Amino acid sequence: GESAGDIGYGKIILLGEHSVVYGRHAIAAPIPLDIRAEVKPQRDHIDLMIPRWGVEMRLSEPEPAISSLHASISLIAERLGVADRAMRIEVFPRVPRANGLGASAALAVAVIRAMARCFAVEISEREISNLAFDCEKIAHGTPSGIDNTLATFGRPILFRKDSARARPDIRDLATPRPVPIVIGLSGVATLTMQTVGHVRTAWQNNPQRYESIFSQIDELALAGVEALRKGDLAELGELMNIDQGLLNALQVSSREIEDLVQIARRNGALGAKLTGGGGGGAMIAVAEADRTESIASAMRAAGYNTFITEIR
Ligand code: PMV
Repeated sequence: GESAGDIGYGKIILLGEHSVVYGRHAIAAPIPLDIRAEVKPQRDHIDLMIPRWGVEMRLSEPEPAISSLHASISLIAERLGVADRAMRIEVFPRVPRANGLGASAALAVAVIRAMARCFAVEISEREISNLAFDCEKIAHGTPSGIDNTLATFGRPILFRKDSARARPDIRDLATPRPVPIVIGLSGVATLTMQTVGHVRTAWQNNPQRYESIFSQIDELALAGVEALRKGDLAELGELMNIDQGLLNALQVSSREIEDLVQIARRNGALGAKLTGGGGGGAMIAVAEADRTESIASAMRAAGYNTFITEIR
């Protein structure tokens, strides 16, 4: 069933993607697009089914090319100490894949919860997040840890990775009123590993130049905390617009994202930017509640899929 099962949350990054990999602040919030998983014991084998993504895998048999999905689920079973048990893992995603909305982390969290429940393995929320982080490393290389944190805790946060200490700084954020958000999907898969790699190369070739861009984005994220606290949507929108300019400077935007950003602004959005890894994937626009429907329908008229949601 759609409603049964254990949940991992999808997410949007409001401000601070990419610079968050370099120890700067980012603001992220859950979206109602989540992933559910159910695990049931069976006689033989470990089977993974994701009907909506057309995935059917037998994890207990060797594969010619091990996918990152296969590797992640195997790692989860191993860490929970149930790799020798037979089980059927079923996953029901409501987050579109490879769209910068955190689907891989949400999937890992949902499967960890469901597998732990099935075999009565005790695991804390922090351990769930840490294990999902190790899964993200398989798919992404050098994740900041923001995706697994959001997927686990599912509430708006200010996040900063702290390399000196093992655990990140996580601060809960509150808004006096819901913040309406339109999500636009570019229809092009985002390859977060590629865009993160591209930024890394640029940074290695010219650390000072890129550190200064990361610090500017950091200032926007910190100003965003204040804007959220006041419920100041116009200020938040302006910060998002400037952030989009800086993400553009990092060359992680795309033709479709730029198109969606322009459509959003032309139709009354207070701010619009890509969200997540970029290079495709998703963008977000902030607007007054009475503008979201016309922004979304203009995006749909141009051929894009959209979701309307809010941060609360
Ligand atoms: O594309 P997503 O949903 O995995 O978001 C990636 C966010 C980045 O800041 C680009 C990478 C990271 O690990 O924080």
